[in-house]
Amino acid sequence: MRPKELVPDVQSPYFCSLMANDHQRLQAIISHCKEYGFIFPSSEIYDGLSAVYDYGQYGSELKKNIRDYWWKHMTQLQDNIVGIDAAIFMHPTTWKASGHVDNFSDPMIDNKDSQKRYRVDHLIEGFADELEASGRKSEADALLAEMDKLLAASDFEGLKKLIEEKNIKCSVGGTANWSEVRQFNLMFSTQLGSVSEEASEIYLRPETAQGIFVNFLNVQKTGRLKIPFGIAQTGKAFRNEIVARQFIFRMREFEQMEMQFFIRPGTQKQWYEHWKEARMNWHLSLGISPDKFRFHDHVKLAHYADAACDIEYAFPMGFREVEGIHSRTDFDLKNHQEYSKKKLTYFDTELNQHYIPYVVETSIGLDRTILMVLSEAYLEEDLSTADKKDSRVVLKFPPKLAPIKLAILPLVKKDGLPEIAKEILASCRSRFRCFYEEKDTIGKRYRRMDAIGTPFSVTVDYQSAQDQTVTIRYRDSMKQERIPIDAIREIVEKQIL
Ligand code: GAP
Repeated sequence: MRPKELVPDVQSPYFCSLMANDHQRLQAIISHCKEYGFIFPSSEIYDGLSAVYDYGQYGSELKKNIRDYWWKHMTQLQDNIVGIDAAIFMHPTTWKASGHVDNFSDPMIDNKDSQKRYRVDHLIEGFADELEASGRKSEADALLAEMDKLLAASDFEGLKKLIEEKNIKCSVGGTANWSEVRQFNLMFSTQLGSVSEEASEIYLRPETAQGIFVNFLNVQKTGRLKIPFGIAQTGKAFRNEIVARQFIFRMREFEQMEMQFFIRPGTQKQWYEHWKEARMNWHLSLGISPDKFRFHDHVKLAHYADAACDIEYAFPMGFREVEGIHSRTDFDLKNHQEYSKKKLTYFDTELNQHYIPYVVETSIGLDRTILMVLSEAYLEEDLSTADKKDSRVVLKFPPKLAPIKLAILPLVKKDGLPEIAKEILASCRSRFRCFYEEKDTIGKRYRRMDAIGTPFSVTVDYQSAQDQTVTIRYRDSMKQERIPIDAIREIVEKQIL
């Protein structure tokens, strides 16, 4: 069972009535991402694949920049954290030991008329959102508190009774004809080896963490690491999500950035607090206002945790989890030791003692972080003056995350201006991502750069040939100034470190 998340279904009538403007904002971001080469529905020519997305030319750069920023903070800037890259496929017993075969499931309920399946918590939360939107907040709070209690007790009969008592209806069929509540495992499985050979069922990993646990001693010994130390990893994870909507917020194939911090038993409380603070500071370092974040303590703990919370961000659809911080005790290592029959203890030379380390985990979804960064950056600005109507859509990414850092734009395609612009390109492109363009008016080119979030554009004009200067235009203020060509690299690099 996964911890509780407040995720209403954006397509449900509850959601639409709740926050039409924010829904429109999410839709505007989705359209913008498609129009400007950030994110496309997967295999779109075949009408797409539900809850699977492809990152385009700018989306993949943005994704890489966010991943690199996380990696740098979690490895390079730490004294005692190293990174690994484990395989997606793992021995099937891994998932038995980790508890995922038996426990990685959500309570689901089917509507017998429409055949639509819901995660029980999403169904109830959607209804609670509707109550709140119609001014019945205390009733909504009481309903959520009751749901939390029943979920914590795994009381499926009670959950069904609650849904029936409240007369919660299916958003598709409009009826309240519900099945029993059942658990539904979220792991994808496939066969290893060809069918004619002896096939064995394996799983696509539902979290990257287990690749770290099974390599814990390999890394500790070869890296001569002393507790406390951490192992970080980024990579794909797969979950057969039932309610997989809300764009890249909840996908079936997604990417995680996880770090397991190995500690002495008994120190988990202190490290849990440490990582809560450190991870919140990382989010704030993206320039996002603190009031857009909050902690949400888990009521129902995952099968491996003795304390857990989410960092929630105010997405256009409301506060939602972007990262989890979990005190995982020695649950994983102890179980891997038991199932593998290999000793996974650490010898602590200071205590002169062997023990299985405890673990505090930080686990953030890369795709959710991208949606968070996009939600912050996306702005529709009215630039109208008394004589002229005007507007622009701009992505105000922090420069360090922007897909393209510098646009180099010759004013015209002749008279030696492209040559000067290409010299600038040659001197900058090995340091950061540049974009060269000579088509269209300069105004149109600026707007295109705003739309993909390029923080700096330089225009090469006739004066450039005479005095080796260019006009630099700043995306956010749209201010322009004359600077020497020699200064371009430093101005950009100062902002992207
Ligand atoms: N190893 C712990 C773990 O996997 P989790 O809370 O299930 O914990 C961690 O997932 C993070 O992964 C979440 O905070 C979220 O950002 C991301 N995540 C989980 N499921 C996701 C999905 N279906 N689509 C996109 N991101 C997801």
